[in-house]
Amino acid sequence: MVVDNLSNSSAEPLDRVSRLSGSKVTFYELDLRDISNLRQVFRSEAIEAVVHLAGLKSVGESVADPIKYYDNNVGSSVALTTVMSSCDVRTLVFSSSATVYGQADSPEYVESMAVAPANPYGHTKLTIEHLLQDLAGSSQHWRVCALRYFNPVGADESGAIGEDPVGVPANLFPYIAQVAIGKRRCLTVFGNDYATRDGTAVRDYIHVSDLAEGHLAALQKMPPEGNFFSAFNLGVGHGESVLDVIRAFEQASGVAIPYRLAARRPGDLAAYWANPAKAHELFGWRAKRGLQRACEDTWRWQVRNPDGYQSAANGSV
Ligand code: UD1
Repeated sequence: MVVDNLSNSSAEPLDRVSRLSGSKVTFYELDLRDISNLRQVFRSEAIEAVVHLAGLKSVGESVADPIKYYDNNVGSSVALTTVMSSCDVRTLVFSSSATVYGQADSPEYVESMAVAPANPYGHTKLTIEHLLQDLAGSSQHWRVCALRYFNPVGADESGAIGEDPVGVPANLFPYIAQVAIGKRRCLTVFGNDYATRDGTAVRDYIHVSDLAEGHLAALQKMPPEGNFFSAFNLGVGHGESVLDVIRAFEQASGVAIPYRLAARRPGDLAAYWANPAKAHELFGWRAKRGLQRACEDTWRWQVRNPDGYQSAANGSV
């Protein structure tokens, strides 16, 4: 069962999930802040646990309009947990972000490190973690995992479900994919003077299917005792540079990616990656797919859906 206000998405992928999984996905088009209707949903469905993925995620937009981010991200989490509490559903997996760490002393981020987000988007994710931690402390019935995603990339291997950004993509993978398919002329590489092996910034790119498996593992392996809150890194455990990603995508697609080197993007860090040991120890989870696989799956999705989920309406799928 899925609840989404479709503010940044469409219902088309849910039909595809139903087709691929062979089980119908019940969908409610609803904003989580609409408490009375949300309560109705909880009363009419048998819900054991919630995976809370709802939220806005553009760093730049959060700097320009912080109220929108606090209202949407924090407000919806307050509403959701209010309803969960009143309906006796107290098991939750929350979609957090590596962005909560901010500038750190070491590029390998571990959960025991201090957190200091550098932008309003990151502040909202950390505020929600605090809310959930306080909730877990307040009652022996709450069990909560916050999953700190590194850079989610790739697509479902079927090529039927993938990332469909609105307008010009702000992130590296969808931008490269659109250059490869000919929708955009050239990739801009932001910064080649970082203190990294080739001068370009380094990130931990995790395949979305590994990420999905991390959520299942959290749900299945979360300790049964209440009063539980813990945060877990979901990443592969090493970094790749922007040039590494370009090369991997060229190999996966067989298409040369034209790119130009430009100044650093304001706010970008040079390099960071996950230490994912905690998720392995507690959940037995580990990322299985690498960068090459993420590029191949992104390319399959892009070729089959040149206009994203609109492609279905245009007859390309
Ligand atoms: C951002 C968010 C992160 C989120 C991720 C994926 C921050 C600071 N960043 O990460 O929370 O999980 O998006 O949604 O919170 N790049 C280029 N050219 C481009 C686009 C990107 O060179 O056209 C470079 C960037 O400078 C960066 C790397 O590619 O070094 C990855 O960028 P991007 O995909 O935007 O992700 P992040 O900024 O790392």
